[in-house]
Amino acid sequence: MTRRKFIAGNWKMNLNRQQARELAASVAEYAPGEVDIAVFPPTIWLAHIAGELEGSGVRPGAQNCWRAQKGAFTGEISPAMIAEIAPLVIIGHSERRQLLHEVDALIRDKIDAALEAGLEVILCVGETLETRNEGNAVAHVSAQLESALAGRAPGDLESITIAYEPIWAIGTGEAATPADAQEMSAAIRALMRTLNEGYAERGRILYGGSVTPGNAVELLGQPDVDGALVGGASLKADDFKAIVTAAI
Ligand code: PGA
Repeated sequence: MTRRKFIAGNWKMNLNRQQARELAASVAEYAPGEVDIAVFPPTIWLAHIAGELEGSGVRPGAQNCWRAQKGAFTGEISPAMIAEIAPLVIIGHSERRQLLHEVDALIRDKIDAALEAGLEVILCVGETLETRNEGNAVAHVSAQLESALAGRAPGDLESITIAYEPIWAIGTGEAATPADAQEMSAAIRALMRTLNEGYAERGRILYGGSVTPGNAVELLGQPDVDGALVGGASLKADDFKAIVTAAI
């Protein structure tokens, strides 16, 4: 089956309010109907960006959430709060796993809370260079996925898009080769099949890590790569639009 391609821009902790608005407006103006597009601004700009995107088909999302809907969690933002503004959330990005020591159990709880609030999730998984060189990349990613996904109802699974982001490729300018991206995506799809057949058919797997207009066509041409999670290149309107175009 052909899955609709999905291009997501992760702006991370970049752009002031005006820059964020301008970038959102530019993406909204372009948005071709053939591709699903989402942008993930810094959460403090999320409401502004949602306004810019209204009616364009480009969906806004948050880069993170907490594992409860409310309470004494200073500095955190709940899935229910996000859901008032945006339909999507990224969970388990490697920067949060590494810099903020987020572990698999916390990530599972966050997914529970996000689904409870009605959000769609982009779940990030990926291995370090050391793990890859040891030959353990697939085992590592599979363990991350098992922890996050095992035992979930089929309807919940279908609200979870997987983003395979090898840590050594993020922000380094050194993307995975299309063959490596495909090999891991096929392994991920096989694991999805063990959870639910429909999920394996319809669930999308994004590749992330130094995606550019130059490598997007080949990466997105792989049979099990259904889109891209784009960091650096999503901050430049022309580059992001070119990556969207590569998905058509
Ligand atoms: P990058 O980031 O495109 O800048 O490598 C990707 C990501 O972290 O989602």
